[in-house]
Order: sequence, then C-alpha cells, then structure tokens
Amino acid sequence: MALRLARLLPRYEYSADEAFGVDGAPGDVVAQRRDAFARLGERLRAMAPKTIEAGEALRGAVSDVDFVNAYRVPFQFRTLVEQNVPLGTLADETDGPRIRDLDGNWSYDLGGSYGVNLFGSEFYKVSIDRAVARASSLGMVLGPYHPVIVDNVERLRAVAGLDEVSFHMSGTEAVMQAVRLARYHTGRRCVVRFAGAYHGWWDGVQAGPGNPRPARDVYTLAEMSEHTLQVLASRHDIACVLVNPIQAMHPNASPPGDGSLVAGIRGAQYDKGAYADWLARLRDVCTARGIVLIFDEIFLGFRLAKGGVQEYFGVPADLVTYGKSVGGGLPVGVVCGRHDLMRRFSETRAADICFARGTFNAHPYVMTAMNEFLRHIDDPATQATWRNIDTRWDERVDAINARFDTADLPIHFVNMTSVWATCFTVPGRYHWMYQFYLRAAGIQMGWIGTGRFIFSHDLTDSDVRSISDRLLSAAESMRDDGWFWKNPALTAKAIKRQILRESLSAARGRVSSGRSAHPAKA
Ligand SMILES: Cc1ncc(COP(=O)(O)O)c(C=O)c1O
Repeated sequence: MALRLARLLPRYEYSADEAFGVDGAPGDVVAQRRDAFARLGERLRAMAPKTIEAGEALRGAVSDVDFVNAYRVPFQFRTLVEQNVPLGTLADETDGPRIRDLDGNWSYDLGGSYGVNLFGSEFYKVSIDRAVARASSLGMVLGPYHPVIVDNVERLRAVAGLDEVSFHMSGTEAVMQAVRLARYHTGRRCVVRFAGAYHGWWDGVQAGPGNPRPARDVYTLAEMSEHTLQVLASRHDIACVLVNPIQAMHPNASPPGDGSLVAGIRGAQYDKGAYADWLARLRDVCTARGIVLIFDEIFLGFRLAKGGVQEYFGVPADLVTYGKSVGGGLPVGVVCGRHDLMRRFSETRAADICFARGTFNAHPYVMTAMNEFLRHIDDPATQATWRNIDTRWDERVDAINARFDTADLPIHFVNMTSVWATCFTVPGRYHWMYQFYLRAAGIQMGWIGTGRFIFSHDLTDSDVRSISDRLLSAAESMRDDGWFWKNPALTAKAIKRQILRESLSAARGRVSSGRSAHPAKA
C-alpha cells in the first residue's frame, strides 16, 4: 500500500511566490517570512562559505549527498530550500561534544554519528589510535584472527548472555545473518518486522518504499498490538520476529524525519513499562510457537545499559544484533545467539549448510577497537553512567520543556534516555524550518533533522544548559520571524486535505513546469 502510494504521489513544488503563504497567512506575515528566509540563507552562507562550497562540489558526485539534501524538507519546498538556505555537511575537527566545520564554526553535535557516538568523540579517537597500535604488528591479515578476538568473544557472550558470536562488516549484514539463521533453523520462510522499524537497507527486511523489489516473505505487522500476537500465535510460516526498540518512542511510525513534517505534527511518547510488557508478551508467544525472537540492538544497545535492551527491559532474546558503537569507532556488525541457532551446518546432513562469509569480517583493527569498547563498558566509571539513566535524561528534558512552556513556544521534547525527538504541539506548514535556525544557533543534526537528536554520554550539565539555550533561542527567532503564525482553521487534517488536493491537481497535469500553480489556501 505504502509502495503504491509512493509511486502515485506526484512531485510538485511551490514557487517562490507561493511558498511563504501556503497556510493562508496574511501579506505582512508572508513578507516577514520571505525576508527572514533570505536573511537566514545569507547568514548561513556568511558563516560557512568554505563548508558550503565543498558540499556543493559533492552534489551530483556522491549520491548520498543529493539524497539527503532532497529529503531534508517536505518535497514541495525542496528546490527553494536547496537554492537559498544551504547547509554545509563537512567537518574537520571535534572537541568533546562539539564539532567544527571547515570555516571554524563550532557546534554541538546532536547527530551522534548515526548513534555510533555514545561515549563522546574523544573516546573513539583514543580507541582507534590504540586499536591501530595494538593491531599494527599483525597488520592487514584476514583469515587468521588477531588474538584479541578471544577476549572480545568472551566479553560479548557475557554481555548478551548468549553462547556464540559472529562478526560482520555492518549492522545491515548482521541482520541479514540473523534472519538467515532463523530461516535455516526453523525451516520457515517468513520474517515479521514491525511497521516503521528500520533494520538496515537489505531488501529482505525493508518492505515498501525504498526497496524496488517486492519482499514477498516479509510481514509488516503492527507493534504493541493484540492482533499481532494473535497472528503470531496462529501462523505456521513465521521464522522470526525482528524488534527495533527505538520504535518504543513512535510505534508503527517511520523514523521522524523533517522531510515528512508536512502537517507539522509529530507524535512521540515513551512508556518504558508498557514497552517492557509488550516485549514480555512477544517473548511468550515466540517461545510457544518456536519463532526466533531477534532484538536488533544495533542502534540502541549499549546506550540503555551494559547488557543492552535485554537488560534494560528485562526480556531475553534468542538472537541479538549489535553494531555501530561496539566497533569502538570502526565499522562492524555482530550477531550473538544460542548455540542451536548459530550453527551453520546440519549434524545429520552433510551438505546442508547456512552459508555466511565476508572478506572483512573480524578485521584485526576492528577487533582491537572493539576490545577498547568492550573494556570501556566494564569500567566502573562507565557503569555509573547507566545508573539512573532514565531519571538523569528525563530531568534534562523536563528542564528544557519547562523553559519552552514558559516562553509559550509550540515545541516540546520527548526522550528515550539520550535519544530525543522534537515534537510540535500545533499543526503548521513550516516546522521543518527549525533545523535551519538550529544550525545557525550552533546545533549540528543528523540528516533527518529535528526528529532525532542523539546525545553523547560525555555531555556535562553545563553542555546541556548551553544546548538548551540554543534550542530556545532558535525557536524564539523562528517565532519572531513569523513561522509559527497560526491559522485557526489550519488543523493537521485540513493540511493533509490541502496536500491531497494539490497532489491530485499535479497528477492531472494542472501544473506549470513541474510546479504547482495552485496551492490551496486553508
Ligand atoms: C536498528 C538498526 N538496525 C540495523 C541498522 C543498519 O546498520 P548499518 O547502517 O551499520 O548497516 C541500523 C542503522 O541505522 C539500525 O539502526
């Protein structure tokens, strides 16, 4: 269904004349926004000319760059934004939680290197330096293992509470292997994943938009749903269920990118008890039906507890995938599991195997960097950072939310420990602009913008205070520039209807040179 819709949705854009008043704002507000947009663009350009120029050189040359630029804002505003408010994407130095662009501007890094940066950039610098020194006498040898692997395996087994380990080159590959093993050992064909959950870009776990191959053996079911438990309890073809626990913040919805902020409303909430209860019930039904329960901890894993998601929610899995930070700053994927599920051959049939190899698996430099990480999480000082983790981060969010309430700004933050989502409390067509104000205020975000801030755990209270000041001042500037002007008739539903009308009109060809000539007024 989502795939069909994605294929049908026409591309249309607002012209510079219409873009600032699509919510029905009066002329003075439209003019105010237009000026502010131009000023913000000039400010960003003046701040970071070299960074922007270097980024421009990558356009059309690095596919990721064009993709990220294209999906930074709702598609109707794409060209206008690309041409007028450029964001540089290059950096040449970090210092603790701050990152410097090529023009010498320091920002707080809330992009978190896709979640890899858990302990702070200084930790990974040291980890990689030490890893290189420790592996250098062996150098690049693949096949024979660096001896540090023995210690890594012991530590991973202890952390996961599982018997065996396999090493891979990325999180995506770890998930591929976990799913392959589940199919092999159950003799069943189908994989269950939950709506909106990301498990890497392999098409075997990505059903819907983004994957041109229809995945016929993947069921996308609703998370936290009785009906799902009934389906699992009644079907005979399900090999495994994949869980990505970050979805606890937004069950059944995709990661909250600013590009999808079409109506401005973004929901997020987090109830640890309710999610733990859901996982326990899922565990029970999987056990009863012989379905392999896979926790995909690649993103969240060690952020929550030393023992990861299993420890944090108190629910054991059959297979666990780790990645990102566990490589100590180098690329990695790991699968941990019970002996009976990890075995790649049959005890009784000689040619019956479950193949998995990868040239760079267990690369010596990755193994030594991983060892730095695994030793670090055993350090009592690190373990102290997990004590009361919910309380500490909840207090930080509460303090910031109180400041926003006092300032009467339509923004609040929801968190699952150190991963935050920015939510907007009223509908609006321009909430995605916040990412640009934040960049000007010295906050660096990941490519999905304000939907996910990933904080590193080296932040001090004074850093958090400084971040809070920036979040607030950026929102105040945005309000002062007219972007939060509210049309009382403009409900989220009305915005969606408006977009539907525009899409239908664009699909019927009532557009000039690819632009919608008729954005409806509310
Ligand atoms: C939960 C989860 N699984 C799998 C992956 C894929 O990992 P990688 O990007 O290392 O292939 C990611 C990446 O973001 C992830 O968050």
